[in-house]
Amino acid sequence: MPAATVADLVPTSGVLFGCDYNPEQWDRETWREDMVLMREAGIDLVAINIFGWSTINPAPGVWDFAALDEMMALLHENGIRVNLGTGTASPPPWLSSTYPETLPMAPDGTRRYPGGRQAFCPSSPVFREHAAHLVETVAERYGAHPALALWHVSNEIGCHNALCYCDESAEAFRSWLQSRYGTIDALNVAWGTNFWSQRYTDWAQILPPRATLSLRNPAQLLDFSRFSSDAGLGLYRAEAEIIRRHSAAPVTTNFMVTAHIRTQDYWTWAGEMDVVANDHYLDRRLPDPAAELSFAADLTRGLAGGEPWLLMETSTSAVNWQPHNLAKAPGELVRNVASHIARGADGICFFQWRASAQGAEKFHSALLPHAGADSALWRQSVELGALLRRLAPVAGTRVTASAALLFSWEAWWALENEGRPSEALSYLEQVHAAHNALTAAGLTVEVVRPGAELHTRRVVVVPALHVLRATEAQAITDAARGGAQVLVTFATGTVDENDRVGLGGYPALLRETLGLRVEEFAPLRPQDTVALSNGSTGSVWSERITVTDAEVVASFTTGPAAGGAALTRKALGSGAAWYIATALAPADYAALIDRLATDAQAPRLRASSGELELVRREDGARRFLFAINHTDQDATVHTSGHDLATQEDVSGTVVVAAGTVRIIEESA
Ligand code: GLA
Repeated sequence: MPAATVADLVPTSGVLFGCDYNPEQWDRETWREDMVLMREAGIDLVAINIFGWSTINPAPGVWDFAALDEMMALLHENGIRVNLGTGTASPPPWLSSTYPETLPMAPDGTRRYPGGRQAFCPSSPVFREHAAHLVETVAERYGAHPALALWHVSNEIGCHNALCYCDESAEAFRSWLQSRYGTIDALNVAWGTNFWSQRYTDWAQILPPRATLSLRNPAQLLDFSRFSSDAGLGLYRAEAEIIRRHSAAPVTTNFMVTAHIRTQDYWTWAGEMDVVANDHYLDRRLPDPAAELSFAADLTRGLAGGEPWLLMETSTSAVNWQPHNLAKAPGELVRNVASHIARGADGICFFQWRASAQGAEKFHSALLPHAGADSALWRQSVELGALLRRLAPVAGTRVTASAALLFSWEAWWALENEGRPSEALSYLEQVHAAHNALTAAGLTVEVVRPGAELHTRRVVVVPALHVLRATEAQAITDAARGGAQVLVTFATGTVDENDRVGLGGYPALLRETLGLRVEEFAPLRPQDTVALSNGSTGSVWSERITVTDAEVVASFTTGPAAGGAALTRKALGSGAAWYIATALAPADYAALIDRLATDAQAPRLRASSGELELVRREDGARRFLFAINHTDQDATVHTSGHDLATQEDVSGTVVVAAGTVRIIEESA
């Protein structure tokens, strides 16, 4: 559970409005203009010193805090609170040229050079020592500064350098393995090293999974992913520990709960954050970027244990790092922001305040664009600030979810390891498909860690949870027995935490719960589909199943498993355990979830007409309905109350115009 609330950070504001600010890129005159404009927009919180290392510590032993002191004072005078970066995100050139061994190494043994950012090995003792000294110096200086609201450790830890294969990483990996396994024999058993003559007799023989000629050992790869996530968390811990000696302000770092970064197991990180914070950018490479945003926001709330969280970075419009950096369409920014808030964000911060004139991010959008304050984009920023202030009553309320979706970074790593049955099986695609089906059926979803207690959930979906432990399987079984409708999908529970297959038919730990055993996987070619006897269509996967004790709801009528079970249901306690052996087409998936939700009598939020993203936040006394229309057709929803977005009273069948948002404080 987070130790601080977002509302604690800046007590006077409602939904916090913030941004990254890089004043080192600008002159003093611009700073003064920035203060005026920040006040005009109603900025509450500003992140500074994120990339400040080479400014405040330009040479070994040389410190220059003049500019940072001035900026802290300026923000304070202007009533703006500071989210203070420790500055360790990117070491200055003098560090890597003096200590080239701190540079990260790729799997093929080549070094990565400075000239970008994050050019350091997370396990490098020399880097860690210099970073600790920087943090100590910054925390001592500003730990009690009146403008300080929050500590921002490093930045997106592991964004570029999570996986380092250098000798120092090898050393750290070995000690991590020693504490995990104790003896080399235990490691040999866990990694199955009798396979391909890989048996180790000395810890010194063990390396990170560097580039090989053939497939690498998948258990070694899985452990290396775990180790690398822990190494990043280790960087956070080291900084947080120093900060806490000098400051009572809350500490956090910005997570990357997003579709394209998967190197941190944030279930193991979240408990150490005083406030859970996430960075999220629309990924235009995905088929439905707004749906991915909803999933990421639900997962971030899951990481925050259901508490409100902080969106630490997002963009007002285009980013600069995708192949085609689309500008946001009219209304899209407000829809995105509303989705984050609907799903638990109590603060919205942007990267960045003022669009850079130089550097690799000069084409990234900002609150204040290159065009300056006489621009539609700037007016939009000011309007957004006003909207966030009107949403003050929402802050602190909670999202009520009736469905749970189990999500695991370990499963993501292991399922997509080398030597798998099909490259067409993407973990995240299966997770997104499940989330989309749940939301299409009107369910509000909490994303939870495997093993989490599920007794309050009416509907539970377990998509492709490849790695499964006995306790996690038990929680799934208990949920069904306790009255939930539980849907387990193919590729769940195939291996244990050491990537070892459970024998006797998949999924070993759930065979009894589901009343079946999968005898053979029969993946499909990417272009192929299979038909089911209930009219549904499947893709990606099928399998040959022997049903032992379940009702066959639908069978495969075509494809490699034709004639065999495709969808099964086993009544269990007061609930049921369902199994689906293929990736259902979206409408079929939603129809299946609809059936489960009906059986479970789960509360739902539904548009009266058209399509809407609907989420409710409440705190017992007050209820806020977020109705977001991502389509180009008007839609309606039945409710009544006061719309905080448009400031009008509404009642009955309320129209949510195409592309717009309503945030209705509902009358009792
Ligand atoms: C990340 C980083 C920021 C910036 C943005 C650009 O989120 O934390 O420094 O690079 O990406 O989208």
